Amino acid sequence: MTGSRKLFVKSFGCQMNVYDSRRMADTLVPEGYTETATAEDADLIILNTCHIREKAAEKVYSELGRMRRLKQAAAEADRDVLIAVAGCVAQAEGDEIIRRAPAVDIVVGSQNYHRLPELIVRAGRDGPLVDTEFPVDDKFDRLAAPSAATIRARGVTAFVTVQEGCDKFCSFCVVPYTRGAETSRPVEKVTAEVERLAAAGVREITLIGQNVNAYHGAGPDGRPWSLARLLERLAELRGVERLRYTTSHPLDMADDLIAAHRDLPALMPQLHLPVQSGSDRILAAMNRRHTRTDYLDVVARLRAARPDLALTSDFIVGFPGETDADFADTLSLVSDVQYAGAFSFKYSSRPGTPGADMDEQVAEAVKSERLQRLQQAIDRSHAAFNRGCLGRTLSVLFERPGRHAGQIVGRSPYLQPVQVDASESLIGAIADVTVTEVASNSLFGALATRAGWGPTPPRTVFDGSSLPLQGRVRVRDAGA
Ligand code: SAH
Ligand code: SF4
Ligand code: F3S
Repeated sequence: MTGSRKLFVKSFGCQMNVYDSRRMADTLVPEGYTETATAEDADLIILNTCHIREKAAEKVYSELGRMRRLKQAAAEADRDVLIAVAGCVAQAEGDEIIRRAPAVDIVVGSQNYHRLPELIVRAGRDGPLVDTEFPVDDKFDRLAAPSAATIRARGVTAFVTVQEGCDKFCSFCVVPYTRGAETSRPVEKVTAEVERLAAAGVREITLIGQNVNAYHGAGPDGRPWSLARLLERLAELRGVERLRYTTSHPLDMADDLIAAHRDLPALMPQLHLPVQSGSDRILAAMNRRHTRTDYLDVVARLRAARPDLALTSDFIVGFPGETDADFADTLSLVSDVQYAGAFSFKYSSRPGTPGADMDEQVAEAVKSERLQRLQQAIDRSHAAFNRGCLGRTLSVLFERPGRHAGQIVGRSPYLQPVQVDASESLIGAIADVTVTEVASNSLFGALATRAGWGPTPPRTVFDGSSLPLQGRVRVRDAGA
């Protein structure tokens, strides 16, 4: 196909969606599409959606209302616009989406993105269609890879999906239904992708998966490799300076992975390890399959391996049956663990999950009050963690220009944003920075000036202006 049609992709939800959105764009560029940053001039609009909480799913429909008006305006100007809904709402709701939002042309489930070129042709010819089967072929084998120029334009950090799906079936969660059973990509495929990214100048790789530490991809020896082994292999690759992985389940925090936090210098001292609740009763009702003590034991072993590890978590308040005493256990866990930060959510009942049928749903006002108290506790813990960095010298990977002229922003090993007055030529470099000031959401610092010191130079010189503004967003749910 030729021509230059314009593609607008909007991603909601987690990093897996961000990654998938990019791979969809990579696959459509050779089909004659160029990416545009606004929906108004797009010929193809893809909303890559999230179903995790009710608000996230509802947001998609309000967005579709806006898209319908754009499509109408384009039709009046004799221009065809196709609207596709991808991701977890597509997977969960299928043709219901077309019933509710008839402007939608394509509903494509999370495992079928490699079929997009074909679906676009069919929808243009035959009208609206839905493709939400879980196919036997691996979408990652069939999606196109980005060019070196595209990789460079996306910045010096990158996500790589290594695992998809989830077999845990926590009783509140839709992911096992929207993403299917747990699968892992083979070691050699991941290695090839990381080599490509590193060769184009990416210096930090975050391995992602809904349950990433359950990784068990086939190794070159034909045996399943653990995440620790995969990390060890990637750390050997030229140009890979920093590694992270997310999101992990406490049950799969294996001994070799804990040891990797001690033994692999490239593995950053930061870990997102959601616990959801501090109450054993609620953990059991959530089907988390671990107790508070199990979790604290994993935390203690991780901190023995890597004492400065920055831990973050997710919490749900107001799960059915949660009492004041259960909630007090969650607050006390926050103070026991001393998190560097955490996300917290009000329980949202999801159709089809066991939680939705449980008695004793908690009143909205109680959830709101608990959420506020929990967030205050998390904020205190976050502020204390950041204060502990004051005066320390941390290595920072510079990612993009700062908000003010003459300023650049990078990430510390603990994933904190660090703002420094320095030249944009340092974007892509890793340099030591002494932290001089701590604000609520970022650190400020100055390049350290030690004798013999010099930043590790960028492997490629980046044109900072082309870097995405949100190089490494940790917000998991744009919708709620
Ligand atoms: N696989 C990851 C994250 C899954 S979704 C894990 O196991 O931790 C991200 C977060 O959304 C979850 O950790 C949980 O805190 C929250 N979440 C999931 N389902 C939810 C629901 N029904 N209501 C409120 N929060 C929810
Ligand atoms: Fe959802 Fe995570 Fe539980 Fe899987 S482990 S069901 S993704 S919360
Ligand atoms: Fe799906 Fe990620 Fe949301 S797996 S439900 S897009 S958090």
